[in-house]
Amino acid sequence: MQIIHTISELRELVTAGKQTGKVIGFVPTMGNLHQGHLQLVKMALSTSDIVICSIFVNPLQFGEGEDFEQYPRTLEADAKKLQQAGCDIIFAPAVDEMYPESDGGGRDQSQVSVPGISDILEGASRPGHFTGVATIVAKLFNMVQPDKAVFGAKDYQQLQVIQRFVRELCFPVEILSHPIVRENNGLAMSSRNGYLSESQKQQAAALYKTLQGLKKQLQTGAYSFKNNSLKSYAGIEQQAIEDLNAQGFMTDYLTIRSTDLMPPTEKDKHLVILVAAYLGKTRLLDNIQLSI
Ligand code: PAJ
Repeated sequence: MQIIHTISELRELVTAGKQTGKVIGFVPTMGNLHQGHLQLVKMALSTSDIVICSIFVNPLQFGEGEDFEQYPRTLEADAKKLQQAGCDIIFAPAVDEMYPESDGGGRDQSQVSVPGISDILEGASRPGHFTGVATIVAKLFNMVQPDKAVFGAKDYQQLQVIQRFVRELCFPVEILSHPIVRENNGLAMSSRNGYLSESQKQQAAALYKTLQGLKKQLQTGAYSFKNNSLKSYAGIEQQAIEDLNAQGFMTDYLTIRSTDLMPPTEKDKHLVILVAAYLGKTRLLDNIQLSI
């Protein structure tokens, strides 16, 4: 496994791989890797010849007052895990390499914005976040030129944003999605779980339990459009928010949506329930997909 820090080294390796007809798989990350990230690497390995993993904490996707400075940077430990997982190349650039000659971590440079979807849910709570994500992923795609790139369903809205710009801007990349990897108690793995105390980690399991409960409720049909109105979704959403808040969460949103994140209509048979909630100062995200 090679660890490289510059775009020119990356381009050399990519060109050499492409010349011998190798399929390039790519897993972009911000590091502080856990089993969730490593499963994405495994998926990339099973569908590609060369797997490149990037580690870059991207300032452009963090808002003011968010945890850009505190975000854990653990390159040495990450490299060990990636080597064991079978990754071929780690690309770990510095901020200056990704946003050269920029005063504000890329804020004064060209950006990729995906209208509509970037402004709802996570985007409403974190203005500019998805433009930061789309911009860095587009830049990374232009550097790595992967045939395939793997993203986790954990960040459901992020995946939708990336699929949109790839399609609309004609990037020649196949986007693969990996299901959410969870702890034994159901808590979705996340680099930010490191901010939680042991007792908060136990408490946090309630998030997934709530989503599972809602899935069951929706699948029993009692809340289907046939028997009830759209209002009934609002009713069970509100009840779930109150339940979570009573268990110590500060729920930002909990919402039942169609798979493209619009409010569901009677025709939608595939739904996703998304939740964002604070436990103390830590913002946790989770979601569950279901068919009715
Ligand atoms: P990061 O949070 O490090 O996540 C990197 C990838 O791992 C994302 O595709 C994310 O969805 C996936 N992932 C994280 N936890 C997961 C879990 N429990 N199960 C499955 N997949 C999981 O997402 C980002 O970084 C950044 O926004 C990035 C795309 C790298 C752009 O900067």
